[in-house]
Amino acid sequence: MVVPFRFCAAVLFLTCVCLISPPFCSGSRLFPTGEIDVGEGLLRFTEAPDYRNGDECAVSNNREKVSSCDASLVHIAMTLDSEYLRGSIAAAHSVLKHASCPENVFFHFIAAEFDPVSPRVLQKLVRSTFPSLSFKVYIFREDTVINLISSSIRQALENPLNYARNYLGDMLDPCVDRVIYLDSDVIVVDDIRKLWNITLTGSRVIGAPEYCHADFTKYFTEGFWSDPVLLRVFGSRKPCYFNTGVMVMDLSRWREGNYKKRIENWMEVQRKRRIYDLGSLPPFLLVFAGNVEAIDHRWNQHGLGGDNVRGSCRSLHPGPVSLLHWSGKGKPWVRLDAGTPCRIDILWKPYDLYKSTAKDQTLGLSSLSLSSFSSSSFSSLIGYSRILL
Ligand SMILES: *[C@@H]1O[C@H](CO)[C@@H](O)[C@H](O)[C@H]1NC(C)=O
Repeated sequence: MVVPFRFCAAVLFLTCVCLISPPFCSGSRLFPTGEIDVGEGLLRFTEAPDYRNGDECAVSNNREKVSSCDASLVHIAMTLDSEYLRGSIAAAHSVLKHASCPENVFFHFIAAEFDPVSPRVLQKLVRSTFPSLSFKVYIFREDTVINLISSSIRQALENPLNYARNYLGDMLDPCVDRVIYLDSDVIVVDDIRKLWNITLTGSRVIGAPEYCHADFTKYFTEGFWSDPVLLRVFGSRKPCYFNTGVMVMDLSRWREGNYKKRIENWMEVQRKRRIYDLGSLPPFLLVFAGNVEAIDHRWNQHGLGGDNVRGSCRSLHPGPVSLLHWSGKGKPWVRLDAGTPCRIDILWKPYDLYKSTAKDQTLGLSSLSLSSFSSSSFSSLIGYSRILL
């Protein structure tokens, strides 16, 4: 199953899979469902195609009711909230679409207790969008972290749910000893099991792409860098930046080493004296930087949302791509709806399951006419597609 996928450009994926592997298409159901009235209006998602395992997939020993303890599963944790809902749904869709064994993927969705769309409604929505998906929705209690959060440079970074990744060891069943954490603004364009299969050498707890050429100093304040006691945190480690939006986490080592507490301790320090400006990322850097398993950069082509202030357009970094990440201020669904997409946003669109209303069309998407893309941008999109091969 893996080989045919590699011949498909992301934008042509569905067509490509249908041509090469009919079994994946015969089960597709594309009739519209997934309308949920949440009071303020309808949340409308189209039902995703029904992705099925190929013959080479490990058979679950508990087919009827998949329990999260089944050893053949790939576990993915992601947050689910009203603001990034469309992103989370598209991300999950992309994982399933490119997985060689989509039925062996188990999603752990973390919802906030006081989200305007309740966890129960979110759960119904996921069920109607992905009728045969194995997943569980967890309720994250904001008061777990609310007193530990200090203000950061972008308001969205203060959302308590951003800290949920620190509590996966507590929330997920103890039998789950590895999990892939994914941000809601990613699209996976490769078989997720390749990422799942990486080895965390020695006693490493986390795997993520590392960026040793990035300026690590900018993630912390001068107050931090001028305090010799605080600096001891790195010991003999050479800290490198990594992004916490894509992480492979060994949850047994995480629980054993009480890493949740280690991260909380740094949040306490931050509350007393400001040692960084971003939200949930710096405490992870303090605890893990210089000691993460370096994964191939193809698994986090980050920064596609532009910077944290302006959200300007960015293009892909050179090299192969397995995961696209719209980190930064600009989100593809917002830019697409506003009729001001960046070229890269076109790669997100095929995974979008949101059904826009006629009103949305008039306001935004209809202005996304061909004229907004010059022929040169079209050829560079083709370029993107090639990179994705
Ligand atoms: C992942 O590892 C399993 C078990 O070792 C192996 O059977 C499978 O082929 C690997 N999958 C990929 C995509 O690397």
